[in-house]
Amino acid sequence: MDHLTITRPDDWHLHLRDGDALRAVLPYTARRFARAIVMPNLKPPVTTVADAASYRDRIVDALPEDLRRERTFVPLMTLYLTDATSPDEIRRAKESGFVHGVKLYPAGATTNSAAGVTNLRHCWPTLETMQSVGMPLLVHGEVTDAGVDLFDRERVFIDEQLIPLRAAFPSLRIVFEHITTREAAHYVTDCCGRERTLAATITAHHLLYNRNALFHGGLRPHWYCLPVLKREPHRQALVEAATSGRPCFFLGTDSAPHARRAKESACCGAGAFTAFHAMELYAEAFERAGRLDRLEAFASFHGPDFYGLARNEDRIVLERSSWTVPASVAFGDDELVPLDAGSTLRWRVVD
Ligand code: NCD
Ligand code: ZN
Repeated sequence: MDHLTITRPDDWHLHLRDGDALRAVLPYTARRFARAIVMPNLKPPVTTVADAASYRDRIVDALPEDLRRERTFVPLMTLYLTDATSPDEIRRAKESGFVHGVKLYPAGATTNSAAGVTNLRHCWPTLETMQSVGMPLLVHGEVTDAGVDLFDRERVFIDEQLIPLRAAFPSLRIVFEHITTREAAHYVTDCCGRERTLAATITAHHLLYNRNALFHGGLRPHWYCLPVLKREPHRQALVEAATSGRPCFFLGTDSAPHARRAKESACCGAGAFTAFHAMELYAEAFERAGRLDRLEAFASFHGPDFYGLARNEDRIVLERSSWTVPASVAFGDDELVPLDAGSTLRWRVVD
């Protein structure tokens, strides 16, 4: 097979940033994906419907002229949950029609999460409202206790936070975002057979690489993201989940651009930039698993089905042709290093 034609995909977890950074990265996503769930972790974060509306306008303004004219790309906005998010804000979000989820960042869990939730108990009435109006909760699933090993934070989150949360709000729709462990893959799989309230996104990088990539021949900042890459058995469990055909798993790149200078420093921020070659990376992962036939459902069907949106109607074509991921791409007065720069990929999206 030399060509693969699939329904145009959506990205169900994406960081677009703002200003010049937004203008630099948006075209990579907007030329391939029809829609993207846009993360609200700006500085300051997007906490109100009014903030989300103006961020959405800035995104549309930043689209290249041809895409703006054709209206082919739709940003799906999210709110950043804080201890102070009110039930009224949730109702306004639902009524807006353009806010599609509310994001839980445990305070301190990742990049720009300082304003996140300090204790989920503070959000009880807000979560109740989300459950009753049908507003999905998007979860960065890691505990933040300094005493918990960084590699165990997702596993501990399931037991300490997610299970009690789902018991308290059984019909709240939850997306467990960018899962990275066997425990998360198995937990979501178990729920998937019974209910339709829990789903998970999986990044291309967690399907392709394990934590050795972080330390290959030296310390490699461009491979550092959160949740951090895990051991090989976890990667295998994620591949199994993504290629299972189960409707509770779908595509979310978590492409998170950080300028080269900030990445290649004594204390580098978490985030891998994959928007440049996301579909190519996913195709590589599915092909290695012998499951290219299941890429379309994962990339283009399961996400809209879970979010209650229509599937896209047009298509994209991937062709089998080797190419080398460039060493960097422009990013204002700096550069961005795409993940696994310099490597050869076997698939390419035909423009
Ligand atoms: C994200 C970022 O840079 O905003 N970083 C990352 O490593 N994924 C934040 C996040 O999604 O955790
Ligand atoms: Zn993210």
